[in-house]
Amino acid sequence: MCGIVAYIGDKPAYPILMKGLQRLEYRGYDSAGIAIMNDKLHLYKKKGKVADLEAFMEGKDYQGNIGIGHTRWATHGEPSDANAHPHFSKTKSLVIIHNGIIENYSALREELKKRGYKFKSETDTEVLIHLIEDIQVKEKVDLFEAVRIALNEVIGAYAIVILSKDNPDQLIAAKKGSPLVIGVGNDEYFLASDASPIVEYTRNVVYLEDGEIAIVSRKEDLKIKTIKNKDKTPYMQELELKLEMLEKGGYDHFMLKEIHEQPRSIRDSMRGRLNAKKGLVTLGGIKDYETKLAKAQRIIIIACGTSWHAGLVGEYLFEEMARVPVEVEYASEFRYRNPVILESDVVIAISQSGETADTLAAMQFAESKGATILAICNVVGSTIPRTSHAGSYTHAGPEIGVASTKSFTAQITILALMALQVAQEKGTLPRSKFQQLLNELESIPEKVETTLKSNDQIKYIAEEYKNATNFLYLGRGYNFPVALEGALKLKEISYIHAEGYPAAEMKHGPIALIDEEMPVVVIATKKGSYEKVVSTIQEVKARKGKVIAIVTKGDKEVKAIADHCIEIPETFEAFAPLVSVIPLQLLSYHIALMRGCNVDQPRNLAKSVTVE
Ligand code: G6P
Repeated sequence: MCGIVAYIGDKPAYPILMKGLQRLEYRGYDSAGIAIMNDKLHLYKKKGKVADLEAFMEGKDYQGNIGIGHTRWATHGEPSDANAHPHFSKTKSLVIIHNGIIENYSALREELKKRGYKFKSETDTEVLIHLIEDIQVKEKVDLFEAVRIALNEVIGAYAIVILSKDNPDQLIAAKKGSPLVIGVGNDEYFLASDASPIVEYTRNVVYLEDGEIAIVSRKEDLKIKTIKNKDKTPYMQELELKLEMLEKGGYDHFMLKEIHEQPRSIRDSMRGRLNAKKGLVTLGGIKDYETKLAKAQRIIIIACGTSWHAGLVGEYLFEEMARVPVEVEYASEFRYRNPVILESDVVIAISQSGETADTLAAMQFAESKGATILAICNVVGSTIPRTSHAGSYTHAGPEIGVASTKSFTAQITILALMALQVAQEKGTLPRSKFQQLLNELESIPEKVETTLKSNDQIKYIAEEYKNATNFLYLGRGYNFPVALEGALKLKEISYIHAEGYPAAEMKHGPIALIDEEMPVVVIATKKGSYEKVVSTIQEVKARKGKVIAIVTKGDKEVKAIADHCIEIPETFEAFAPLVSVIPLQLLSYHIALMRGCNVDQPRNLAKSVTVE
């Protein structure tokens, strides 16, 4: 949801900003721009992708070793050159980049208009830079103080960086709600929405906290103050991110790379936590909350998108293994519907990015009511894990494809470990069953590896259905959330309408849609309600629907009636989603590719949604 990057130091700023914007493009890609200072302050921006901006820059003056850059996901105002960031102040002395939303922008805009300010864009950001300059002139204060006063008037979320023509040796940055990382090099600083534009230059970073303003000056130490003007000591951390994790590693797309990384990402998420030999599960991050979890009367899982689907699998896992009631909530609904939250509740927030605004607000709301908040996140140091009481990171590594894949399976892995840990503490599973579950979970990466070998067969099936206009996905039990996730993947990247349904619910509505044009993807793995799912397949076939079935290796019954069968290795019902989702991810990938869609950057979406 908008990516921001900035540089101050001895190096040419332009290549650092451009590379940074490419790395941040997953956050938004409807327009991009940069501002660079040499003896003049230059601003260039363009509707379209970062590559369009790069083409536009040919022949332009972009020398200089201080600059700011932005890649946008439109909130206020359509994607256009005018609405692209950076934005100039009235006198063109200041330029700003912004990620977030200024909620009271309309009142501020009217006020500024009355005082003669004219607006070149429809953005909330332009309001902010005019306000800052207005304060600077009226109050005769320096830029830091003007930013500080302005931010005290602003309601909303922001990560901003401001460059002033009058002080080419300084950048002012501030954060509330949206992320901002400062890379500290030798006499140089890098600022960005995440560490990806920074990692190849320095491993030393400072994560700015909400309500902090950074004064980043050339050849001076980093200074941080709060918007209440209190000094803060910067807390330096070392990045664990590796550069190769941010590259495609020989794959055509990040999504395909990330699908294939799953044997590794699941294994990494279990590493040091699952010890099948000793019959132990230990999630160190939640150790202090083990008793709280075991005593919880209820668990509430909150999340959005794919993470919400993982949460549904979590519900099945916790209820079955740890015998605790679970509710799974869309964060956006939960935060506004006056839910009943008890102090004995444990809330688990799930988020790949750790930034999703609705999830963050929902967990803060639950915390204000006295609940214990745990987080399952992928991005280390992001806001959600830092705001929770405790939690566990998924060690999936950076996920860059906008459609989430390896995060989903890593989240389920952590949920399975958590459920098993609570079961171990409460003694809700017989020892032999518990041990079997640990052994089976340990074998999942290998089974995912085997499933990935179906890639060519799936490509062939994709060819046959690439022109379909609708798809139905069906599953039961643990495979119902997988049906939802399969449908979401197809919608997101191929723009084909797809619906996920519990298989038995088909007869209550979706069955009316079935004819010879309708592909129906059925997850029909052995165990659970297999026989009942077979009956559903019969019902689809009786209406001439086309059935693509995900079946357990060696299946005969479904093979006899379905149009296509993709085999996956046998596993326990509880862990089936970790394997059965793989063919669905590949199917959506190949269909999207065959339809000429941009797989890694689907239209209108952004990977991290920092607005409501
Ligand atoms: C966006 C992404 C989805 C993601 C959802 C939740 O919509 O496009 O892929 O599932 O946000 O994101 P989170 O980072 O909280 O898991």
